[in-house]
Amino acid sequence: MPKINVAVLPDRMPPRSPDAPPGVAVVIDVLRATTMMAALLDAGAAGIRAVRSMNEARSMKAREPSVLLAGERGGLAPDGFDMGNSPAGIDPELVRGRTVVLTTTNGTRAVEMVPASMPCLMLSLTNLDAVAERVRTLGADTLIVCSGTDGGRSSEDELAAGLLVDRLRTWTMTDTAEDTADLATGSIGASGGIEAALRRSFHAERLVGLGFDADVRFCAQLSVTRTVPALNRRSGLIVPG
Ligand code: MLT
Repeated sequence: MPKINVAVLPDRMPPRSPDAPPGVAVVIDVLRATTMMAALLDAGAAGIRAVRSMNEARSMKAREPSVLLAGERGGLAPDGFDMGNSPAGIDPELVRGRTVVLTTTNGTRAVEMVPASMPCLMLSLTNLDAVAERVRTLGADTLIVCSGTDGGRSSEDELAAGLLVDRLRTWTMTDTAEDTADLATGSIGASGGIEAALRRSFHAERLVGLGFDADVRFCAQLSVTRTVPALNRRSGLIVPG
């Protein structure tokens, strides 16, 4: 059976030996980067370029003015950007057919930290079952990478990681993977549902305080899309996989 592991933060990814088979990485930033990626593709975006810095994003726009700039710092859209990082606020008229350059505090950083040899898929609660099916079909050792929040662990990413592991219980689980699955199912049971569990997280409270309650509600939806955003290593674009 393939093995499933969880890195609770991008810098806790286990070291890889150069001759190890690549396996598959699944990056999560439930609030809100990976949810945003699936939502942008569902709204018709041609692709997403995830970049770490605002300077990089702005120079891409200078080189290629047709791209849209999206993202956040401190939860809010940076000056001069076409949109923030709100999956509930996407304007399909604006994004249809366009390439979106996305830069966020934690999520796009996590994508960049995945070793270039690994195929990389994006998980959110909104596409959980579609990603579970894709991973099962690929049948390779899988590393789930939680983005975290400002360098610390985030319960909402671990919730989604645990639910993915829970769907792959027949696989060989590392101790971290097993603990993450048990904690996720326990927390959903104790909170009275997925949205309630998500709302208990620090980041959900912060987003609600900033006026993004609709995003938290959007990000809490379970398996409402079949879109699995995947990083195309040749083009550097995230596209439906
Ligand atoms: C991030 O990457 O840090 C997040 O997606 C932040 C957010 O949108 O609130």
